[in-house]
Amino acid sequence: MTANVVSPILVGRAGQLATLEAALAEAGRGRPATVLIGGEAGIGKSRLVSEFAERARGAGARVLTGGCLELGADGLPFAPFTSVLRELVRDLGADGVAGLLPSGATRELARLLPEFGQPAGSDDAGQARARLFEQMLILFEQLAERGPVILIVEDAHWADRSTRDLLAFLVRNQQVLDGALIAVTYRSDELHRMHPLRPLLAELDRVDWVARIELDRLSRGDTDDLVARITGRQPPEDVLAAVYRRTEGNPLFVEALIGDGENLGSGLPDSLRDLLVASVRRLPEPTQDVVRVASAGGERIGHALLAAVIGLDEPALASALRPAVAANVLLTDSDGYLFRHSLIREAVHDELLPGERGKLHGRFAEAINNDPQLVLPGRAPVEQAYHWYAAHDLTWALISAWQAAAESGKTLAYAEQLAMLSRVLELWDQVPDAAQQIGTEHLAVLEAAVRVAELTGEYDRGVTFTQAALREVDVAAEPTRAGLLYDARGHLKYLLGRTDYVADLREAVRLVPADPPSSARARVLERLTHDQYQRHGGWSAAEFQAAAEEAVATARQVGDRATEAAALITLACAEPVTNLDQVHAWLAEARAVAARAQAYQPLLRADITESDVLEGLGQHERAAAVAREGIATARDYGLARTSGVILAINLAEPLVSLGRWDEATDVIERTLQLLPPLLGRSGLYRLSGDVALARGDLAAAAESVASNRAVLFGTKFKDERQLPLARLDTELRLASGRPAEALSVVDDALGWFDASPSPRYAWPLLVAGARACAAAAAARDDALTARAAALRGRLRAEADRLAADGIAQQARRLTFAAEMMRADRALAGAVNGDGAATGAGPGDLRVAWDAAAQAWETASEPYPLALALLRSAEAALNAGDHDGGADPLRRAAALAEQLGAVPLRDDVALLARRARISLGPGEGTDRQASAAGPTARDSRTERERLGLTAREFEVLRLVAAGRSNPEIASELFISAKTASVHVSNILGKLGVASRGEAAATAHRLRLFDSFPEPPQASASGRR
Ligand SMILES: Nc1ncnc2c1ncn2[C@@H]1O[C@H](COP(=O)(O)OP(=O)(O)O)[C@@H](O)[C@H]1O
Ligand SMILES: [Mg+2]
Repeated sequence: MTANVVSPILVGRAGQLATLEAALAEAGRGRPATVLIGGEAGIGKSRLVSEFAERARGAGARVLTGGCLELGADGLPFAPFTSVLRELVRDLGADGVAGLLPSGATRELARLLPEFGQPAGSDDAGQARARLFEQMLILFEQLAERGPVILIVEDAHWADRSTRDLLAFLVRNQQVLDGALIAVTYRSDELHRMHPLRPLLAELDRVDWVARIELDRLSRGDTDDLVARITGRQPPEDVLAAVYRRTEGNPLFVEALIGDGENLGSGLPDSLRDLLVASVRRLPEPTQDVVRVASAGGERIGHALLAAVIGLDEPALASALRPAVAANVLLTDSDGYLFRHSLIREAVHDELLPGERGKLHGRFAEAINNDPQLVLPGRAPVEQAYHWYAAHDLTWALISAWQAAAESGKTLAYAEQLAMLSRVLELWDQVPDAAQQIGTEHLAVLEAAVRVAELTGEYDRGVTFTQAALREVDVAAEPTRAGLLYDARGHLKYLLGRTDYVADLREAVRLVPADPPSSARARVLERLTHDQYQRHGGWSAAEFQAAAEEAVATARQVGDRATEAAALITLACAEPVTNLDQVHAWLAEARAVAARAQAYQPLLRADITESDVLEGLGQHERAAAVAREGIATARDYGLARTSGVILAINLAEPLVSLGRWDEATDVIERTLQLLPPLLGRSGLYRLSGDVALARGDLAAAAESVASNRAVLFGTKFKDERQLPLARLDTELRLASGRPAEALSVVDDALGWFDASPSPRYAWPLLVAGARACAAAAAARDDALTARAAALRGRLRAEADRLAADGIAQQARRLTFAAEMMRADRALAGAVNGDGAATGAGPGDLRVAWDAAAQAWETASEPYPLALALLRSAEAALNAGDHDGGADPLRRAAALAEQLGAVPLRDDVALLARRARISLGPGEGTDRQASAAGPTARDSRTERERLGLTAREFEVLRLVAAGRSNPEIASELFISAKTASVHVSNILGKLGVASRGEAAATAHRLRLFDSFPEPPQASASGRR
């Protein structure tokens, strides 16, 4: 009979094709698009994407396909990307591909494909991986710029971790890939509960531009159609019914069933798997033998490898296999063979007898061992490891796992490297003289595992490995080795955010001898000083200085420039910021040393440190300039996602200070798009939270606080992270009218203060704390007042021992003093219960705020400046100085307007209205109404409908808030008599008899929803 084995045309699947076409069109419009295609084995995922790819190719798209291999779990890291690169090199030539990348960039790609020459050295292993990822992104970006590109990753359920990571990275960063579509297939029936692809799919599902397609079995109609297409004729109805009943519409099984030719529909095998095996059983015996051998070789086997394993020459092999190819059991390509479907391979492999299976894998391993050229370059160790393990040859499994670990390390596939090292450790006891076999002792394997665990971010496992290593090391005989293990464990604990790391780092320094000087000595000293320069571990300054200087001197003696530069930067970090010249001197020296050694990590760290120090001192412009330059350097080195993120934070921060909020937001958003590591993200969230809060977007600010809390939960306390977060949280709660909660946040945060909190981060929190006290006092609740009074004492005590370095910190100290004065007055009023303040008068308060305003002006920080001006105006007006209040108020209005600081602008407008101050030329009542937002504008029409004047409307607002006439008078800067006249007019116009009724009317009409604050809290509560 002349039946095909597969249908020449695609049956059904119109909807899914349309989804893919639409995604491609979307990509063509420059928007990112990814499609995830799930479905059981044999359902037609590959057929669908290849059909789609064919059409797209016809329309001029470049299609790059890479498949994950079942060996993946054992480590064929980055397998699909290696195939994609190979395909590209075939098309464009190695030079053509290299030409797409910034110069030198192929050094990382060389790790995947030897065609690109020698891989870069692995001195900076952790960063190399980040660079590799970025280079793949740039490569696709460049290709996409030249025309539509489709990247297809097949069978992601077999993806190794490195592949999953890179895939996730590309999808998340797809926005830069103008015109590229990513399509991923996976077997949904393989995804058991713990399958590692699951979390990735869940994560990608949350990305806006990712769509999922689930391929179902074919309908009865489509199945009939498929049968007809395959057989080339219309089979009788009973056959069609039998095929559908038996296969339930899975095309692969339909093909297998029909392959049975004459017997179509009769004598059906018991299981679907048998069905697949049956297609092999129909082949001639010698062919079957070869196919069985091939089933042990993995998804794709080279001609030469298979020939070597079978012991035939290639022509003989080809003729033995011809029937298998004719029956479509095997497919051929230029390099070798692959099964038409991996389910067929699995079925055949499962049929092998256990002894036979082990022997076959052994033959593959041996063949590769004899001639590594039989597999793709660089793959021999990994493939051997797979085969020896499957062959249950423990000795060779051990040896090859050790070699595979080294190979994976070269390709930056650290997760796979760790898996191989773990296997070595697992097999160790079962192999006599294991150490001789691999020429390495057990302890050295553990040490390698420690290093790799750090690189993969598996810090906990790293600690476990160091524990084991420390039990084995002979401290007396090898103190340096033991010291380095303590050093590693201490650093791992540090990375885990654990507080018990210092003891380990100190032990390392104690163990590694100073004489003779060694690179190890320099490194443990550098680490100890670096990891704790921020004051953990209770060092004295002298002790610290001595250790850091010894690190520099030792590194210099042994010519370890990278460590020397690192230690110099640590010295700069530890230098009191007031010695700015000395800080610069250390950094300049560090840069010079690093440049000579081409050690760009210290170079970037110098930029990070310098921008940070400058910002802390209030030199925002300079800080921004240094950070901006550093970002460019980081990008050049492919480190945009790591060091580059820290620098982006160091750029956004001064921009926020300078009031250049749109620019800062831009930097933050662009950086977040790179999906940086979690801690980096937390800094960015916090800064965007600051801007959101100042602009009145409380929801966004609340989200920022929440995500920050989540990120920082359980990490080691650090001033620079937790204190700004507590400050933001405090202000958010004040802005939301929750002074009690604000007090608690400040209370907690003060609990974290230790002997010497960093003034840079402590002052802003103290200022927020003082504001919280004032707001709490204004709430007139006895319990709250008592808490505020207690907190005030603690705040003052902390402030008394805090230095204020540089103009920004001095401005904060002045602001703190002014806020405290305000809090004192509010508390005094709350305690006396009469609203009359004692102690410092409004005149003193005004002086205090003017001083703060002046300092902010010098520091070029418009937002706190505007705030201080508002308070100064308020104090002037309270003191009866109408004209003295007008000027600062107008300036505050202009600044708030420029910044888009809506709540501040509203507070200013409100005070201006109460005091009847026009906010400047061209800003009449309309201007004021619009300043108060849309609700207020609506209220204005409402007011006119009620026939109230603007002044009466203000008075009504206070009546509705339950204020007495004297209170109204003091808030609006009018006499009590005038207030009472206004009130009776209002009652008349509203046609009500009492203040209570007037208030009820106002509430019913929702006149004042935009001004919900209680007295004074309106002034303090907002900020
Ligand atoms: N819609 C279809 N029309 C025709 N043949 C199909 C269709 N879907 C799948 N097939 C055939 O069924 C077999 C299995 O499909 P395949 O795409 O390899 O499955 P999967 O990738 O989902 O495991 C292939 O030989 C394929 O050609
Ligand atoms: Mg497939």
